[in-house]
Amino acid sequence: MIKFDFNTYVDVNEQDKESYKQRVEKIKETMYKKEALLDWLDTDTCISNEELKKLKKVASEVRKDADVLIVIGIGGSYLGAKAIYDMFNGYFTNSKPEIIFAGFNMSAEYAHELLEYIKGKSVYVNVVSKSGTTLEPSVALDVILKELKKRYTNEELKKRIIATTDKEKGTLKELANKEGYTTFVVPDNIGGRYSVLSPVGLFPLEVAGISASKLLKGAKQAKKYEDSAIEYAVIRDILYSRGKTIESYTVYEPKLYYFTEWLKQLFAETQGKDGKGIFPVSMVNTRDLHSLGQFIQEGNKMIFESVLVVENTRKLKLEHYKQDLSAINVMISDRVAQAHKNGEVSSLFFKIEKIDEEHVGALVYLFEFAAAMGGYLLDVYPFDQPGVSEYKRLVNESLEVR
Ligand code: PA5
Repeated sequence: MIKFDFNTYVDVNEQDKESYKQRVEKIKETMYKKEALLDWLDTDTCISNEELKKLKKVASEVRKDADVLIVIGIGGSYLGAKAIYDMFNGYFTNSKPEIIFAGFNMSAEYAHELLEYIKGKSVYVNVVSKSGTTLEPSVALDVILKELKKRYTNEELKKRIIATTDKEKGTLKELANKEGYTTFVVPDNIGGRYSVLSPVGLFPLEVAGISASKLLKGAKQAKKYEDSAIEYAVIRDILYSRGKTIESYTVYEPKLYYFTEWLKQLFAETQGKDGKGIFPVSMVNTRDLHSLGQFIQEGNKMIFESVLVVENTRKLKLEHYKQDLSAINVMISDRVAQAHKNGEVSSLFFKIEKIDEEHVGALVYLFEFAAAMGGYLLDVYPFDQPGVSEYKRLVNESLEVR
């Protein structure tokens, strides 16, 4: 169960929201025609039954034999998987096999340390790129393949390298065909940042023991939250029109940090276009109350917060306080919102009962729906990211290919 509170700490009245009704209905109608990159709207167009079966089979083979699965990808090709993996992984322990991420930076130090770390371990690789041509993952694959070719035969590599990419085009697809690697398909009508519930995210998560079927079930059931997702998109739009140009995704469970990274990408790339959009930032509380909190309480009033609270974490009794630790954490999220409201900063609350696949699948769906709806409300096309190519163009001009 996910609960929403968009009233207690937000000054947006029903009349303001009502004025969006007709526009929202029209947008919804357009979205459900699924003419744009909207196949994530239905779980059966995120992944076919056949692909899901194959994914589970390959994942169970990898689970049996791997110490480490290296997921290579950047942006939408890794953030969703990393976000969900971290939510389920222990703070001080790792899943077996451990999932490691690469291909999201160009750091030679990172590459050296990764090669060092995988020494003596049984390694599998899942390289993810929809276009199959992105620089960072190509470089990471280059580095890792060079190492793995020293250890494993070509036959062995065929089962150890799994490529998730376009069904027919791109350099990665060509390489996979040539070398005989196992492949999964990124559906044509799903863009990177909306792809976590396709083979892009589901394969590595299944390897980590996080159930793909249950995540999909959660997303399917989240249709019931669509009205709340729309209300959230509308309130954001109203706050934006009042000069609130920064949104903080604020969490009280540090495990959700990477989920805020995923949200930042989802909303920034979906809506930051044509000189418009809300800039997403994040806070991990209570840590950041002792740093960014000062700015939020008393600084420039351009911020509002979207707060994610996990209501039922494990209980822990304390010697000096009557409430247990988990209850204090939830209580603090409420008092902070009150304090911030006193400082003219609104907070919108998303309260999830617990971290399990069904809740997380639902959260993913509802934020994807809100991001797309928000993009249409801003009159931008939600599913491209043209601004990303400018740096790529300049880098490509300076890169020398061997
Ligand atoms: O949301 C997006 O489409 C992007 O963030 C992409 O996921 C990212 O640029 C990686 O692209 P690709 O999967 O083609 O390597």
